[in-house]
Amino acid sequence: MGKYDFDKVIDRHGSGALKVDALSEFFGRQDLKGLWVADMDFAVSPRIQEVLVERMRHPIYGYGAVSPTYWQSITDWLWHRHGWQVSREELTYIPGVVKGIAYAVNFFSRPGDKIVIQPPVYHPFKMVIEGNGRVVANNPLICRGDSYEMDIDGLEHIFAEEHPTMMILCNPHNPIGIQWDEDTLRRVGELACRYGVTVVSDEIHGDLVLYGKPHYPFASVSEEAARVAVTLGAPSKTFNIAGLVSSWVVVKNKKLREPFYAWLAANEFDSPTFIATIATEAAYRYGEDWLDECLAYIEGSIDETAAIISDTMPGLRMIRPAASFLAWLDCRGLGLDHDSLQDLFINKAHLALNDGAMFGTEGTGFMRLNLGSPRCIIREALSSLALSLAPVHADRRP
Ligand SMILES: Cc1ncc(COP(=O)(O)O)c(C=O)c1O
Repeated sequence: MGKYDFDKVIDRHGSGALKVDALSEFFGRQDLKGLWVADMDFAVSPRIQEVLVERMRHPIYGYGAVSPTYWQSITDWLWHRHGWQVSREELTYIPGVVKGIAYAVNFFSRPGDKIVIQPPVYHPFKMVIEGNGRVVANNPLICRGDSYEMDIDGLEHIFAEEHPTMMILCNPHNPIGIQWDEDTLRRVGELACRYGVTVVSDEIHGDLVLYGKPHYPFASVSEEAARVAVTLGAPSKTFNIAGLVSSWVVVKNKKLREPFYAWLAANEFDSPTFIATIATEAAYRYGEDWLDECLAYIEGSIDETAAIISDTMPGLRMIRPAASFLAWLDCRGLGLDHDSLQDLFINKAHLALNDGAMFGTEGTGFMRLNLGSPRCIIREALSSLALSLAPVHADRRP
């Protein structure tokens, strides 16, 4: 074992955790293992806990002053971890990445405008677009065997024919865990620049690229990408502090940035809570060794899960993520319709995973499995699944 114990099982019931305390609301029953919403069941780095507890001991919780060291901790992290140079003026706070996407959609597009997404993709993208009276332009990913590619020709076609004002890029891509390579991102930048499309790049999973590979911030791959990019990121997924609501936005292009940041400021969307700032600073300054151990643990869990599935669950195929702790399970080989697949996972295996269809029709027949849990929980979940699959396999035998 390393310095941190990722095998430790921590009971989250009664802590107000969405993942376990809202199972009845979302799945119709409470007696499930929660392997869905994208947070992890690991204790946060002790340094983060210490600074929060220390601050909470002070009995006054009034308005906070934002320390210059908070901004510096973010720009230092982006430089040190990703080689991405960001200045203080290019950076501001946003209270959550989805809210940041919503601000960008409201600010940079008009009702009726088309906005490109690449399903299967994180479902709030579509919700934000449609909920704000904009129109989704789908450029589905292309599935090739065990991996997915971006349809660059499809993207160019949409840019040229449908004249979208925006694109929401998921970099890395949730739910499939794709780490986009530099060349693909450069081509997106080139096209977006040529057709005048603003690219909102959601990089919330950017710190979670696995196997020692780099994350390429979209705005860092070329001058063209930097010109069109509105990049959103956060320490929330990285350090398991999503409930503290701390995220950031970087816009390199002054022409986009100045009016957007003035609008955020006028509406006080850019004002962090003091809890957000101290947790963020502690995470970025002192959390790196915890993160590296966490990523190694997740890699081990991916290996083990992939092996168990391929050895014991015919009809099921796991697409290995290159980034983050979410695995994309192809269940189409089971030959079940949508409702039977949900019934299998929820009512037979007693597992709460995300239904792949929520990420777009392209996700039908898939399930998203959250591997951000101690391995004994994952093993138990896989055993329940294997047991529940036995009658499905028996039924299909000739
Ligand atoms: C790609 C992506 N963006 C945004 C979010 C949510 O971010 P926030 O809670 O900061 O709105 C998630 C959470 O799962 C996500 O996977």
